[in-house]
Amino acid sequence: MGKQRVLSGVQPTGNLHIGNYLGAIRNWVEGQKEYDNFFCVVDLHAITVPHNPATLATDTYTIAALYLACGIDLNYSTIFVQSHIPAHSELTWFLNCITPLNWLTDMIQFKEKAIKQGENVGAGLLDYPVLMAADILLYNADKVPVGEDQKQHLELTRDIAVRFNHQFGQGETILKLPDPLIRKEGARVMSLTDGTSKMSKSDPSELSRINLLDPPDVITKKIKRCKTDPVKGLEFDNPERPECNNLLTLYELFSGKTKEEVITECQDMGWGKFKPLLTETTIEALTPIQTKYKEVMDDKGYLESVLAEGRQKAGAIANQTLEKVKKALGYSVSI
Ligand code: AMP
Ligand code: TRP
Repeated sequence: MGKQRVLSGVQPTGNLHIGNYLGAIRNWVEGQKEYDNFFCVVDLHAITVPHNPATLATDTYTIAALYLACGIDLNYSTIFVQSHIPAHSELTWFLNCITPLNWLTDMIQFKEKAIKQGENVGAGLLDYPVLMAADILLYNADKVPVGEDQKQHLELTRDIAVRFNHQFGQGETILKLPDPLIRKEGARVMSLTDGTSKMSKSDPSELSRINLLDPPDVITKKIKRCKTDPVKGLEFDNPERPECNNLLTLYELFSGKTKEEVITECQDMGWGKFKPLLTETTIEALTPIQTKYKEVMDDKGYLESVLAEGRQKAGAIANQTLEKVKKALGYSVSI
């Protein structure tokens, strides 16, 4: 039996932060030898909220370069850009026509983002999860490694696939049902300024997140200023101390130590001792990523060749699925 297929993606909006890294990309890297992997930069998703055309193309390159910098290995993985493959938009249309509207209005992320947009909610924001379903279903993905916040979108993807197969499959599975791959540790990295809300690219405060490309002095400043509490000693999993749990988890993940080791090392520490330790560990973990990122960005030609190859490999698979879907819907098609 061949390897199972993995597909995932990140939007080229803003800088990637350590939540994106620990919740998603790190898991892609760790699992990549086991699977046949496809990682896309989802630039069609990026325009579902107001965006800046002047930076979209460079932001897309930045994310692709960060995939490589974080350790995505082209011997095991394919990197591509969503908008390079028209099948994503086409399948979205077909899936739109079988997706009940109330499935979309029920999505938590839509409701949250729609509130932020006020009067200006575009239809694309509502349709965002259908485009995501198309991303996944085009590649017959078995596993989709994401952070906790994407779980509902994965459930929707499965519901759409079941519905399509039921209505048009004539007993055949045309669209494969994917499983989410959500690791407990790091699945929900919290804001540095509020341990009860998720670290997010869209938080207006830069102090709330550490970006993968933040230089050491900025990381130092952000950890120095981050929210803590006046309780003595440090502990995991105390619901009264969300910031403490979050910061200890960051230390656990960046140091590579086990939870037990972290407890033994840190339980009697005060913040004054812990914060410099977390700072040093974070900088040490991010420095190699930043160095590799600069190397990749200095060689634009190489990055372009990676994306051109990705476009070919991914496009071939996507087009096959699209043809199957069109045929099932009754279009006359020739491959
Ligand atoms: P996005 O930035 O929305 O494109 O998200 C890209 C990936 O990062 C998705 O798999 C998200 O689930 C994951 N992610 C985003 N924010 C966080 C966070 N605060 N903690 C863990 N994972 C996250
Ligand atoms: N919606 C995802 C997010 O914001 C990004 C995404 C788009 C994605 N298409 C995908 C993730 C397909 C996994 C698979 O995080």
